[in-house]
Amino acid sequence: MNKKILLIIGGGIAAYKSLFLIRVLARRGIATRVILTKGGSEFVTALSAGGLTGEKVFTDLFDLTDESEMGHIELSRSADLVVVAPATADIIAKAAHGIANDLATTTLQATDKRVLYAPAMNVRMWESAPTQRNVKTLKADGQYFIGPDAGEMACGEFGEGRMAEPEAMADAIDKLLKGDTTLDGLNGPKPLKGKRALITAGPTREPIDPVRYLSNHSSGKQGYAIAAALGRLGADVTLVSGPVSIDPPACAKTVQVETAREMLDVCEKGLPADIFIAVAAVADWRPKQSAAKKIKKGKDGIPAMVLTENPDVLATISAAKNRPGLVIGFAAETCDVVEHAKAKLAKKNCDWIVANDVSGDVMGGDHNSLIIVTENGEDYFPHLTKADAARRLADKIAEHYS
Ligand code: CTP
Repeated sequence: MNKKILLIIGGGIAAYKSLFLIRVLARRGIATRVILTKGGSEFVTALSAGGLTGEKVFTDLFDLTDESEMGHIELSRSADLVVVAPATADIIAKAAHGIANDLATTTLQATDKRVLYAPAMNVRMWESAPTQRNVKTLKADGQYFIGPDAGEMACGEFGEGRMAEPEAMADAIDKLLKGDTTLDGLNGPKPLKGKRALITAGPTREPIDPVRYLSNHSSGKQGYAIAAALGRLGADVTLVSGPVSIDPPACAKTVQVETAREMLDVCEKGLPADIFIAVAAVADWRPKQSAAKKIKKGKDGIPAMVLTENPDVLATISAAKNRPGLVIGFAAETCDVVEHAKAKLAKKNCDWIVANDVSGDVMGGDHNSLIIVTENGEDYFPHLTKADAARRLADKIAEHYS
């Protein structure tokens, strides 16, 4: 998309989530430039923000070098969207009243771009008359808000005040960058509230000896995206993940496992659940024997490897006494995708099978084409990003319960 946002990081404990946001946006192809306020720099450093954006971080209005490299007016207009996260009561108040006494507030007043505020503060500050008045003023001026979410806060209180989750913020940013200004629904309806979802993701690793293993190319991206999408719709999500190199979604509880047997064990302990989604590329076989010490090259030549079958996590959970009401399997196929998916639906006693053609660059890539096979027919979700595919699946699940 080649879009760029200007992220103003205010002074709040939620500033760490803004660093996470930079990474989520980068994964979506959106670049970030950062202004770090004095307050923000008490919580995160310019070095970490700069390391993540790969760009200079701007901090001071009166820094001569900064001004000569990129003046604050140019800075305010160089991005496609300005995002203030965390937006403190102080920044909101200054912006609402046109007070411009530092780089962040000067930029907010000078910008000709849309501004999205992600407030984060104590619930009482958020609910206070001045803050609510200021938010109303900014909204009337045409500015956008996401959150705050309700939940437990760093100060120990419970209520509205937590900064929106990075994935939800990235959704809002995506929408605004595409010119869609209807942010309703991003913090709004939580149709899966009260539902427990258990999701497997990533590959498993089956040890040959302490340094070698059998595994596959699964990146975990699709399973992680599904966990995030369900979390955003209010589900209470546990993600059981094999070894991957991506960050766990903030809105799920993630349990890391290595082998198929560990994955099954954690899933069984995770029951009861309402929804089970097996996205993991579980190794079908494991070495029958795993050596306790590294196998050395010896005079016996090349060792033969005898394999044994791994438990089928999906089939086992589907046959459990306390089987979740909605069991969804994935079918990774390279040919006759729908036919094989239908066979798996019956064989593994699933309610739905999500079939995907893995003959291309799906494993490890960012896109996926899914076919959801149920007893009532098929839904086609062709060539979507894995995040969009996850959202479509989550919406279909919400629809199923509505
Ligand atoms: N699955 C599982 N445990 C296994 C193998 C697979 O939970 N030991 C799950 C996967 O997470 C997926 C579904 O079963 O949801 C189908 O996986 P897939 O690899 O497509 O099928 P297999 O059962 O392994 O059959 P085959 O490889 O022969 O197609």
